[in-house]
Amino acid sequence: MASRRAADELITSGSVLVNGRRPPASGALIDPDADIVTVDGRRVRPPTTHRYVMLNKPLGVISTARDEADRKTVLDVLGEQGQRGHRLFPVGRLDGDTTGLLLLTDDGGLSYRLTHPRYKVAKEYVVRVAGVLDARALDRLRRGVRLDDGMTAPAEVDVIRAAGRDRDSGRTTLRVVIHEGRHRQVRRMLQAVGQRVAALERSGFGPLRMGRLRRGEWRVLTPREVAALGRATGLER
Ligand code: URA
Repeated sequence: MASRRAADELITSGSVLVNGRRPPASGALIDPDADIVTVDGRRVRPPTTHRYVMLNKPLGVISTARDEADRKTVLDVLGEQGQRGHRLFPVGRLDGDTTGLLLLTDDGGLSYRLTHPRYKVAKEYVVRVAGVLDARALDRLRRGVRLDDGMTAPAEVDVIRAAGRDRDSGRTTLRVVIHEGRHRQVRRMLQAVGQRVAALERSGFGPLRMGRLRRGEWRVLTPREVAALGRATGLER
């Protein structure tokens, strides 16, 4: 509503109130979602008021905004605190029995790009499989397997060797990166090579990593992460 200099003058003249109080002359930081800023009594809002939240989705929670059968949804997990009055929706979906990184936002433009196959946004999963995969199975997964809705695009597939226990238990843990987002894709890919997925977690989405966020925890993305999402879909931010 004003140039930086004019805004400084408005602040010094006392026209600007933050939560009903005069802010310090300079260097006051505000939270655009939580703080109420008025100029001469009129509320002002920043031009972009989108909210971007990363959730580590727990098991048994549905990735839709609302559920007709009244099952627990990811928005229930965020609660009022997580939503802060925004009409958030999940960017893509994770199955009820999949855990991990789910982005929620009210930025429809970015969400559209992040889920459109054209932008080939990478989705990284940690996959626990009930059996052991031979070199041929890994190779097929990497090149593409035939599903009932067509061949899958090439994927990155690595055996995670850190867990030595896997060998004894007859299980395998894989890191799988796909650039598509078909329904139950990872489970169906593993099924196509004769394997059953015992646990599936998404660990990365485009430039985002879940890091130390524990199941059921959420956090707001940093401006840097939001900018990186924009770049990942060809938007300069
Ligand atoms: N692939 C799946 O099979 N399920 C998910 O939830 C995500 C990817």
